[in-house]
Amino acid sequence: MTDRSDAPCGRARWSPRRQPSAWCTASATCPTSSASSWATTRRARRCSTTRSTRTGASTSPKRPRRSCRATSCGRAMCSRPSTTPTGRGRTPSCPATSVAERTCSPGPTRPTPSSRSAARTCRPRPASRPGRAARSTAVTTEASSTRCCWASLCCHWRPSSATVGAGSADRQRTARAHGAQAESGASVITAAERYPALTRPITVGGLVLRNRMVMSPMTTYGLPDADGSSNERHRAYYEARARSGLGLIRVESAMVHLSGKSWPHHLAVDDDRCIPELARLVRTIKRHGPPVVLQLHHGGRVAVEALSGTRPLAPSPLAASGHSVPMEMTLQDIEEMVEAFGQAARRAREAGFDGVELHIGTAYLLLSFISPAQNIRQDEYGRDFAGRMRFPLRIVDRIRELAGREYPIGARIVGSDYHDGGVDLSYGQQVARRLETAGLAYLDVSAGIGPNAIRDSPLTIGGGQGVFADFAAAVKSVVTIPVMSVGRYYSLATAEEAVASGKTDLVAFARALIADPELVTKSLRGEETTVVPCIGCQACHGGMTQALGVSCVLNPATGHEHEAGPRAAAEPRRVLVRGSGVPGLELARVAARRGHDVTVAAAGLPFGGLLALRARVPGAEEVARGTDYFERTLATLRVRIVDDVPAERFDVTVDARPGSPILPEIPGVSPAKIIPGEHVLAGRAGNEDLGERVAVVGPGIFAGETALYLAAAGKDVTLLAAGEQPMEDAHGLIAGTTALRFAAQGGRVITSATVHAATDGVLDIEVGGEHRQAGPFDCIVAAIGWDPPDGPEYVVADAWDAFAARLQVLKATRLARKI
Ligand SMILES: Cc1cc2nc3c(=O)[nH]c(=O)nc-3n(C[C@H](O)[C@H](O)[C@H](O)COP(=O)(O)O)c2cc1C
Ligand code: SF4
Repeated sequence: MTDRSDAPCGRARWSPRRQPSAWCTASATCPTSSASSWATTRRARRCSTTRSTRTGASTSPKRPRRSCRATSCGRAMCSRPSTTPTGRGRTPSCPATSVAERTCSPGPTRPTPSSRSAARTCRPRPASRPGRAARSTAVTTEASSTRCCWASLCCHWRPSSATVGAGSADRQRTARAHGAQAESGASVITAAERYPALTRPITVGGLVLRNRMVMSPMTTYGLPDADGSSNERHRAYYEARARSGLGLIRVESAMVHLSGKSWPHHLAVDDDRCIPELARLVRTIKRHGPPVVLQLHHGGRVAVEALSGTRPLAPSPLAASGHSVPMEMTLQDIEEMVEAFGQAARRAREAGFDGVELHIGTAYLLLSFISPAQNIRQDEYGRDFAGRMRFPLRIVDRIRELAGREYPIGARIVGSDYHDGGVDLSYGQQVARRLETAGLAYLDVSAGIGPNAIRDSPLTIGGGQGVFADFAAAVKSVVTIPVMSVGRYYSLATAEEAVASGKTDLVAFARALIADPELVTKSLRGEETTVVPCIGCQACHGGMTQALGVSCVLNPATGHEHEAGPRAAAEPRRVLVRGSGVPGLELARVAARRGHDVTVAAAGLPFGGLLALRARVPGAEEVARGTDYFERTLATLRVRIVDDVPAERFDVTVDARPGSPILPEIPGVSPAKIIPGEHVLAGRAGNEDLGERVAVVGPGIFAGETALYLAAAGKDVTLLAAGEQPMEDAHGLIAGTTALRFAAQGGRVITSATVHAATDGVLDIEVGGEHRQAGPFDCIVAAIGWDPPDGPEYVVADAWDAFAARLQVLKATRLARKI
């Protein structure tokens, strides 16, 4: 392993465990070091004393510049293929072309290559119908930017008499239920027509919900204060979702007892001091209509001792993977926790919550009690089904005593805890029946994160939609209380289908609401194409330990709702964003909304930058929905997309490219045989360059997904990762799933590996202090990362790993507000 001590030269050097942005302040291995491992050689390359081997943007083939025939202005033209509105031909577009000629027509779903091109160049249709002209004039305002194209106007343009008059009693009821949020009767009825099952009101535990769309509980990782109190930022996050037309808000897991604290800034309900701020939160949410419940939580064996100050508690001393052995709870501990849950519910009621929900999911205390794999007690709280259910049922009784008999109590349960011998679906049904008998108001059916989750959980990129709907259906078949389904509902269409087919009574949205709090309102208005999509990347879970607060790689406004939004630019400027990865596209979006004249240069990568390359990895194709979203949005904002353009024409230039690929120098390997990973995914490395046997080196998900891409293309691939685990920068579920997909393609992984040299394609590697050989290989693909761009311009570097990209996107949005 590379050490990270201070470098006298003060320059950064690369640590193989980290992405290149983890700058080392190194020494023993500073430039003059003669160490021969490629890790140390890499460090040497960072100092000016060594030869630079960067491959910058200049390595990318550039399209020839052409001049604009239409205007004879002589400006460089975009040579990206584009089509005429009929979808034929290649119509070069010119940066000087007038704005009016570039209004878009975003398609309703993922556009085909030809329709994508068309979106950049098409003209607005003439206003030939009543109302259209008036709507078209709205194109320059921010609020109406989503309505500027004729394609989406068509969705709105419906004669209201056709819909208002339809009026079944059901629809009228729905219309009343929507009352406050509806702009007009016509749009309410249209929404009910579009999503009839989802927009039907329902009564849950005596609470009348205006529709069946629910916010799933989601920890906000740092939005509350360090002591767990709600605050202005936290309230603003919930308010943005509460005003979006949901039927029910379920506030995130709140710790009922310090021993269950599971992350910094964990929302707290463990003391009466929490009541006033929780009450403010409730008032804020209720101002917008929906009832609100609080999820009661204890981390159990995955609670964090460093935060709770005590060894984690569990029914039995069985460690969860990656955690220490917990303390088996005594009967006194059990009494204390029953009381803690009861008191927490009382506080929730005093704060104004309409109900509480028991978290009997994930890997937390209550799930541990009911799971035969995690509870091997032989006393009255274990032994058999009745014993294992005793703890949660005693909690229900105590809540009744302290918060009132009629106070609604729901529960999140699981269709599987992904443990051998743990909770499976039939056991989950038994649990559901027992909880119904105990008088619970509703059941939400999720899944746990036991040891088999990586193999079996579909909650990952490429896992599909509505992934636990069958769990919900199975539970619904054995109970009469309302059932909620959760798990990868990222459009109302899938949710509608789940409710309409009778699999569930309600649908809970989680990440889809992190990505876009307005998911419901936009979709009910028929503006589904303007919804910021969730691509399942798990970046919203990042930053948990630093308490950065929840946010989204595609929507940096999430978690920052308390901040003022972007304001119109005092002086519109010509802005060039060089690089079309998500950070650059977000910058372009905000700058254009502020009134700047924005051009994005793809600069050698496909539109979407590294995310577009990631979409080429088998199983990760769905991330293309992210680039599609930006393509539609930027088109409505009239942002020009070009291949490249000279910076001199612009007032401001932002470098949003990934930077220069980090390439190791390996004695015995010709530089021509060391190929940057992005060249492979961009299709710039041919078969003759790659050969058949490929070593992919790199510590992160970039290397893992590049290796998977090559293995799926039929190459014989070995992934050499410097860390103890491959893909160590990625969320565990994504790293694990990628590793399984790679193995299924015949790929091999060597961890803790440092490459020293090569002879005839055979690598001399060091693994855990021992030298061994790997190969022979025909080439080495370097998927280590990038040196960030270091030009004079502003920089918001594109990144492969979703959390790293999320941080850059936040930087981009802030920069866009300043320029
Ligand atoms: C950032 C984040 C925090 C979460 N916190 C909680 C939580 O506090 N309680 C809980 O029951 N589930 C929590 N979950 C799980 C979600 O409620 C949901 O079950 C899961 O994300 C699957 O739904 P989705 O595919 O719609 O995201 C969290 C999920 C995310 C993404
Ligand atoms: S960060 Fe990724 S997974 Fe999370 S909400 Fe955004 S797109 Fe979805």
